[in-house]
Amino acid sequence: MKSLKKKVAEAVYKGLIEIAPGASVTSDEIITYLAYPPDAKMGDLALPCFKFAKELKMAPPAIAAKLAEKLECEGIESAEVAGGYLNLKIDRGALCEHIYENTVKADKPYGSCDEGSGKTVVLDYSSPNVAKPFHIGHLGTTVIGHALKKMFSFAGYKCIGVNHLGDWGTQFGKLTVAYKKWGSREDVEQKGIDELVALYVRFHEEAENQPELNDEARAAFTALEHGDPEITALWRWFIDISIAEYKKTYKQLDIEFDYYTGESFYTDKMPAVVQELKEKNLLTLDDGASIVDLEAYGMPPCLILKRDGSTLYPTRDIAAAIYRKNTFDFDKCIYVTSAGQCLHFAQWFKVLELMGREWYKDLVHVPYGTVSLNGSKLATRTGNVVLLKDLFSEAIEKAAGVMAEKNPELAGREDVAESVGIGAVVFYYLSANRMRDINFVLEDALNFDGNTGPYAQYTYARTCQILHKAGKYEPGGFTPNDDEFALAKTLSLFPETFDSALSEYEPSIITRYILQLCADYNRFYHNCPVLTAETEQLKAQRLALTESTNKVLAEALELICVRHPEKI
Ligand code: ARG
Repeated sequence: MKSLKKKVAEAVYKGLIEIAPGASVTSDEIITYLAYPPDAKMGDLALPCFKFAKELKMAPPAIAAKLAEKLECEGIESAEVAGGYLNLKIDRGALCEHIYENTVKADKPYGSCDEGSGKTVVLDYSSPNVAKPFHIGHLGTTVIGHALKKMFSFAGYKCIGVNHLGDWGTQFGKLTVAYKKWGSREDVEQKGIDELVALYVRFHEEAENQPELNDEARAAFTALEHGDPEITALWRWFIDISIAEYKKTYKQLDIEFDYYTGESFYTDKMPAVVQELKEKNLLTLDDGASIVDLEAYGMPPCLILKRDGSTLYPTRDIAAAIYRKNTFDFDKCIYVTSAGQCLHFAQWFKVLELMGREWYKDLVHVPYGTVSLNGSKLATRTGNVVLLKDLFSEAIEKAAGVMAEKNPELAGREDVAESVGIGAVVFYYLSANRMRDINFVLEDALNFDGNTGPYAQYTYARTCQILHKAGKYEPGGFTPNDDEFALAKTLSLFPETFDSALSEYEPSIITRYILQLCADYNRFYHNCPVLTAETEQLKAQRLALTESTNKVLAEALELICVRHPEKI
């Protein structure tokens, strides 16, 4: 529809210029006015002519009438006047043919573009805090971040995924103390991250009655900062164990990072930042701590150094941004975190602006809402949290149960159960606008009959099976009925749907599009026999629509990180 809209806009532009030579309108502006009427009976595209009334000094119905008379546009069958609107009917056969050519025959994925050619985007996402649980609160940053990475790649950008691990900070002091007091090498080796989290949780419990433990932890962290070999070795080990475990979860999601450069990576890059802030007179002392005063911008101060001179989360982010700009020369650097960190990002983006780094404008914070499970909020720190890997295991198990019932003969059932279980979680998560708070109910996510991942995967598998059975076909002379045309129209909306998902950093726009496409395909499938169509021509036409749907569904599911097995 994007290319058709463009053609229509050019034709309308020509028409308007004939009516009023010298009128100041552009076809780019006209494109933005073209709308989809809510009722298909009114036409497929509508142009509200009151937009031109002032410029043309004419009444909208008169403009519409003149345009209707003159309009000649390939792909448009007829134009009718309805009040101040010009309603256009699309040439149905031409649209189907266009879709087939661009989804099945074309050599690049439908809707992909080269907008980003020659440009680089750095994406900072997932970034769990080592030794703290990787819980379902991290699902958002992990899957939104990765979906954005896929989307920017689809638009031609070079994408660099960075896992900004929380691998530095006082939690390591706590963990070291806990490990030395209550831990053992065997336990950590055997139970991995679970043991680290258990030690961390125990530290907090014990410290309630023994506050001096906190001093010990602080001392241990200071020792780490000064490169104490024993503590450094422990710290490195804790991180390696954690990364190995995260990678299992990432593998289930088909996520690979280009870099695991955590906060500690910037340790030696921070003195220069502090120095620059000093030279630019941006640092103020506040009760011994060094801050950048942001009162003039309506924000609390950005903390740069603690009283003891140690650096803070914002300091590391500033150093990391400068490093990334120097190393990757990005056109955009995207950070995906919970909305709770909005102020943090606004603050240090401001500090970079004050430092005179013009490229601060290319830093984008993409926030998202909270997650609860079956209605209960997640508590952190206490250990009373749902880990991402446990949520995934449960989803896979449930999916396996459903499939054992539905399709006990299926080859490779275990792999498919993994794809369906995880796909269900991801799809459900990415169905709502990212700022919406989400209540996770696994049963809903896995419902094959609902608006879910399994339903979308099932629809995709259906198209695969039909195409497989059909073999070769040669479509030509499309004459679509209402159901076929509705499906073609939805297919044709994919490129512009993708564009808005990209510009709004909103993968859920794609998820909801997938549901619409599945609904249209399934309606078509029930009303229009494909393999048993009355004529060969009709059969080929329906197979073409099926194959177009197959291609677009695969692309769209891929963009939101949901696997699409050929059989379910
Ligand atoms: N580790 C942080 C957390 O779990 C997220 C880091 C986000 N990225 C960044 N550059 N600040 O809250």
